[in-house]
Amino acid sequence: MAVSREDLVTLLNEDLSREYQAIIAYVVYSQVLKGAEYMSIAKELETHASEELQHAITISKHIDYLGGMPNATPKPVKLSDDAKTMLRADLANEFETIRQYRERLKQCEALEEYAIAEDIREILRQEQEHLTDLATALGEDPPDVSKGAKAKK
Ligand SMILES: [Fe+2]
Ligand SMILES: [Fe+2]
Repeated sequence: MAVSREDLVTLLNEDLSREYQAIIAYVVYSQVLKGAEYMSIAKELETHASEELQHAITISKHIDYLGGMPNATPKPVKLSDDAKTMLRADLANEFETIRQYRERLKQCEALEEYAIAEDIREILRQEQEHLTDLATALGEDPPDVSKGAKAKK
């Protein structure tokens, strides 16, 4: 779908809200995941938290560059004390994030915003790693991001 620069600002602000959501979820989940089998993924989630912070800064920079105002509202974060529920929530969010960034990449290229596209490409690469880390921790194959459907909850 073709978008205007104004639409792109709105869509990037949605992406920013998903990055805030991811930061919060990874900060909380990395500390409350308990159990020997989750020790290594808990450590991994701390790394994800700092990567999501960098994504939020990058997306904010481009919103500002496009003349928009970065928003300050995260998408809601699911709280649970069950490890699998937390990992599933992260997996579903990463899947949606990837689906959105794949669209954003095409939209940026259509607007000839190649520098933004380049940064989104790098963010996308990291989000796919996050998805794989979560699927591995759940003992599953990562969901197919080329399919438009939502990840199973
Ligand atoms: Fe991110
Ligand atoms: Fe991520």
